[in-house]
Amino acid sequence: MNNHPLLHIVQNIKKLTEIADNYDTPCYIYSSERVQSNAMRLNDVLKKYFHKYHICYAIKANSNPHLMKIMKKTLPLIGGDCSSPGEIYAVKKAEIDPANCIYTGNYESITDLSLAIEEGCYLNLDDETSFDRLAQENLPTRISFRLNPGFGKGTFSQITTAGENAKFGIPAEKIIGAYRKAQNAGIQNFGIQCMAGSGVLTESYFPKLLTAILKTTNKIEEELKIQFDFISMGGGLGIPYSDDEKELNLDTVFFELSKVFYNQYKKNDSAPALWIEPGKYLIGDAGFILSKVIGLKDSYKNFIGLDAGMETLMRPALYGATHRIYKVGFHGDPIGTFDFTGPICENTDRIAVNRAFPAAKEGDLIAVMDTGAYGFAMSHNFNTRPRAAEILLEETSHRLIRRRETIEDIFSNCHV
Ligand code: LLP
Repeated sequence: MNNHPLLHIVQNIKKLTEIADNYDTPCYIYSSERVQSNAMRLNDVLKKYFHKYHICYAIKANSNPHLMKIMKKTLPLIGGDCSSPGEIYAVKKAEIDPANCIYTGNYESITDLSLAIEEGCYLNLDDETSFDRLAQENLPTRISFRLNPGFGKGTFSQITTAGENAKFGIPAEKIIGAYRKAQNAGIQNFGIQCMAGSGVLTESYFPKLLTAILKTTNKIEEELKIQFDFISMGGGLGIPYSDDEKELNLDTVFFELSKVFYNQYKKNDSAPALWIEPGKYLIGDAGFILSKVIGLKDSYKNFIGLDAGMETLMRPALYGATHRIYKVGFHGDPIGTFDFTGPICENTDRIAVNRAFPAAKEGDLIAVMDTGAYGFAMSHNFNTRPRAAEILLEETSHRLIRRRETIEDIFSNCHV
């Protein structure tokens, strides 16, 4: 076992057995300490290299308000990146000020956009046509547009959110038209945003992306005499999901970004602020799934059947994503390779494929790591299975921060 930041927790069989007995499995477990240290580390490096900056936590990664409250306690000025009315609701539950938030939708309805304006979010529009739609109703006083710089990068093609195949943003060649239109409509305050992919562990990519964004801002500033309030690079900061991957050196990333940024802008109040919208980096490695072995099957392949399947964690079935899986307590040496599956009636129901693993037996506790981001948030009710509980670990104590869904909850909206 390598040095996963939560390894000490996964090795504590007494504590995790107590949690399983108390709350049942599967459940999502989060380390309060890790959330705080992730937030501090990011803030410290931004403070070191940038005159003005702002962090908007990407709510889509995990919208549990309790976890956001921990972030807010650590960084009182933290904002949110919201993509739906539900995420604005979550932000408010966590007592994060919507005025510190950016709203980035996609094929945004007027209803959604109007709500975001009403709540005071900074509106970031996905297209010029979104502006046209909005102009029929009410326009905000400030606006930003999402840039597609023509390339992007993500762990998988499915989570690469810029480039020719991306449904998001406005191509670099066209975006000036959107700003011109907004300016002609009387808007005076502007930002620009770009979110080009998730899960990037290549340090040199980030300055390359910022260079492309600044090429566009430069053109807009010169032609339209616009001064940007902020430039948001979106999310994308990756975390290791396996022992072979190296964590990002944040100091290198932000030092290089500051060189690019302050090559174009002066390091004073007249420069735009650098915004980032991290999801994975803040919460990804702070959470894991605690699951139980239900059955073992020797078929054409060897299966370890868990009580958590693709309804609890979608990433492996959806992207072929890999997550480290540990036997709680003493992990032991591998005895063979196994597919980890769950109770779902789909053959894509896999948490891992061909994974070397030690001997396991029914009732063993298993930890599926790095599931704090896009874990619970993407879980669902297929096969009419209730969603898992969420537990927070604080030093030596634990508490429920979302109770397990019940079957009654699932049917509570049905008229029968
Ligand atoms: N900002 C915007 C506008 C976004 O769309 C996203 C993620 C983020 C920020 C945060 O990106 P992050 O820092 O987490 O990379 N479900 C996929 C990830 C999809 C990301 C979509 N947008 C996964 O499980 O890997």
